[in-house]
Amino acid sequence: MRKLTNVLVTGGAGFIGCNFIHVLLQKTPSFKGRVINLDALTYAGNAASLADVESDFGGSRYFFERADITDRAAVEAIFKKYDIDTVIHFAAESHVDRSILGPEAFIKTNVMGTFTLLDAARNFWADTNADGTKGIRSDVLFHHVSTDEVYGSLGDTGYFTETTPYDPRSPYSASKASSDHLVFAYHHTYGLPVTLSNCSNNYGPYHFPEKLIPLMILNMLEGKSLPVYGDGKNIRDWLFVEDHNTAVWAIVNKGRTGEKYNIGGENEWTNIDLLHRLIDIVAEKAKLDPAKVRSTITYVKDRPGHDRRYAIDCSKLKAELGWKQSVTFEQGLAKTVDWYLNNEKWVEGIKSGDYKNWVEKNYTAR
Ligand SMILES: NC(=O)c1ccc[n+]([C@@H]2O[C@H](COP(=O)([O-])OP(=O)(O)OC[C@H]3O[C@@H](n4cnc5c(N)ncnc54)[C@H](O)[C@@H]3O)[C@@H](O)[C@H]2O)c1
Repeated sequence: MRKLTNVLVTGGAGFIGCNFIHVLLQKTPSFKGRVINLDALTYAGNAASLADVESDFGGSRYFFERADITDRAAVEAIFKKYDIDTVIHFAAESHVDRSILGPEAFIKTNVMGTFTLLDAARNFWADTNADGTKGIRSDVLFHHVSTDEVYGSLGDTGYFTETTPYDPRSPYSASKASSDHLVFAYHHTYGLPVTLSNCSNNYGPYHFPEKLIPLMILNMLEGKSLPVYGDGKNIRDWLFVEDHNTAVWAIVNKGRTGEKYNIGGENEWTNIDLLHRLIDIVAEKAKLDPAKVRSTITYVKDRPGHDRRYAIDCSKLKAELGWKQSVTFEQGLAKTVDWYLNNEKWVEGIKSGDYKNWVEKNYTAR
């Protein structure tokens, strides 16, 4: 039986991690434990995303530790200080474009950082079996959050299943694939109790505006051009972030140890069709002229090695754990647009930081 009492969430100040902590502490009454958020606060981490959690649960059920997952001593000290029994590992360098411009940080955080956490967990959870041999406690769990990008690119048909061979094609996806292999290596070699999930593209509140959906929403609101890679026909499967997080929590609670689960939206869109839908929603809510907004669409040079299509088969998760998506794409996009319209302070906070310089340099100059 898993303890799920002292839950270490890595990368909890990032997009998916902060939404996860909100779901766990504010919307999961069955969870009575503590959340320890370990985050280095890179450009993508934002403590302001958890201001409400800090004020409601800080010091009682929520604790923030600024640390780097590659720092072995810091990681070990956190395991000890909070008697961690569960790890939910979100922390990563996560943006494909950044991985093309500078892969080293991706190898360091995603590969070495995951290794450091796994090894610290193995040591901290070491136990002696009944027969006197060395083993690992059975009431603990290391859950690794990964991406569907490890599977490579699909043609016009077919879906990624849990048995699809890995074929990563960007430095980002290669680093995530490496971390996935390390997770299962620790399970098979040392008996570390692990679960793993590979999810499709997320969208929703608190999304750092270098990614497609928030970037487009903010550019529309500011009257800036809307840059679209290549011919705009690349296909992604989109999932509302809260649905990703309820799936992660279901796996952490009931998923079989040593298993991986695909998580997806069953919601494929070409980038250009998605953008037109988003323009309709933003124009209506922000009272903009949709035709004028559409005229700012600008096709830009394609991303090198841009994968054509990702599509997830998540039937294993649905059949085994009874999970399902809670919102349609229309509902999720409407919630997301409302969130950006109502959270100007958060947006301004992001814009005054590194994001502004990076996005200006990489998106609007072309
Ligand atoms: N965003 C998606 O659509 C998506 C889809 C599938 C899987 N994933 C995976 O989900 C996870 C979270 O993604 P996200 O979009 O929230 O990422 P994000 O970039 O928004 O957040 C990453 C967080 O990790 C922290 N971090 C980075 N390096 C660190 C380090 N060395 N030590 C400690 N903290 C560090 C950052 O400060 C940030 O808070 C990642 O593992 C990613 O691969 C993301």
